Amino acid sequence: MATMDSLIGLMNRIQRACTVLGDFGGSSDLPTLWESLPSIAVVGGQSSGKSSVLESVVGRDFLPRGSGIVTRRPLVLQLQQTQEHEADYAEFLHLPKRKFTDFNLVRKEIQDETDRITGKSKQISPVPIQLSIYSPNVVNLTLIDLPGLTKVAVEGQPDSIVEDIEDMVRSYIEKPNCIILAISPANQDIATSDAIKIAREVDPTGERTFGVLTKLDLMDQGTNALDVLEGRAYRLLHPWVGIVNRSQAEINRNVDMILAREKEREYFQYSPDYSHLANRMGSEYLAKLLSQHLESVIKAQIPSITSTISKSIEELDKELDSLGRPVAVDAGAKLYTILELCRLVYRIFKEHLD
Ligand code: GDP
Ligand code: NA
Ligand code: MG
Repeated sequence: MATMDSLIGLMNRIQRACTVLGDFGGSSDLPTLWESLPSIAVVGGQSSGKSSVLESVVGRDFLPRGSGIVTRRPLVLQLQQTQEHEADYAEFLHLPKRKFTDFNLVRKEIQDETDRITGKSKQISPVPIQLSIYSPNVVNLTLIDLPGLTKVAVEGQPDSIVEDIEDMVRSYIEKPNCIILAISPANQDIATSDAIKIAREVDPTGERTFGVLTKLDLMDQGTNALDVLEGRAYRLLHPWVGIVNRSQAEINRNVDMILAREKEREYFQYSPDYSHLANRMGSEYLAKLLSQHLESVIKAQIPSITSTISKSIEELDKELDSLGRPVAVDAGAKLYTILELCRLVYRIFKEHLD
């Protein structure tokens, strides 16, 4: 029997395959399947620490960062766990033949690909960039980085940008299968959190919202975030996770991820305020929590996904028949690959059901 980990890996492959199919106008029901797959979106105000949290979950530095609006297109990031000792690499959907091993080049390609669509202006685009990262040091997750929510347009941006970003974010997180990572900085009043506001709007019961409190180290001396972390200030269904990311000074000094995680662990262990919560705080704990949650969501969805896949197999079969087999043309080959993937996933799902 396949493990849940490999199951999630397969789901990721299917998700990518379906996107390819959608891109060239495939006519099957697969977009429905795509919509039904769980993913995790990161939302929050500008500079709340979204990119930093994503990077710690991945365990690599690769995202463009900076003040202001850096993320201007959604980034769909698929993490795939590989065998121990295998070297990390990344692949973009729009550059399928290129393996990136230098993560600085990944960051540069995200920037370049953003500019290709939006120009070098501060415009945004809802067209996602798709990136897969393969590493022995990640858990299998699909993460979506979204442009930061903002309150005012800056020079070069249309006045509609505030709403445009909100609408784009909403279009991802309103999907019932989207798990929302709502990022709020601890040095701002939680009552004004953009992340919590929009998450609550699309997920009033909080079933799929995880509250993440960043910048604990930047709070005023003599204050702490226990009211939030212990659920008194703003109660969420899932418990809050506190995070200490690298400061800008540490990023400038090139403090690496491993050292950053170690420092974060120590921060919680030795903090007089938070040591009693230490085993439920930090980026590594967050990554594990998310993976566990994703697995339970997938398990609960197995019956409905199985029936969607089974319908897709029938339709793909019909489509291929109408093309005549064997098919060597591009479209047929793609359909065929997806069909094979569907069959594989279907078999594994059936095992879990039986
Ligand atoms: P984003 O705009 O939401 O993606 O935020 P970034 O991850 O780019 O972070 C914005 C700035 O805040 C960067 O300079 C980070 O170094 C800093 N930052 C983020 N999280 C923390 C944190 O937990 N502690 C400290 N000291 N700085 C942080
Ligand atoms: Na930023
Ligand atoms: Mg960012």
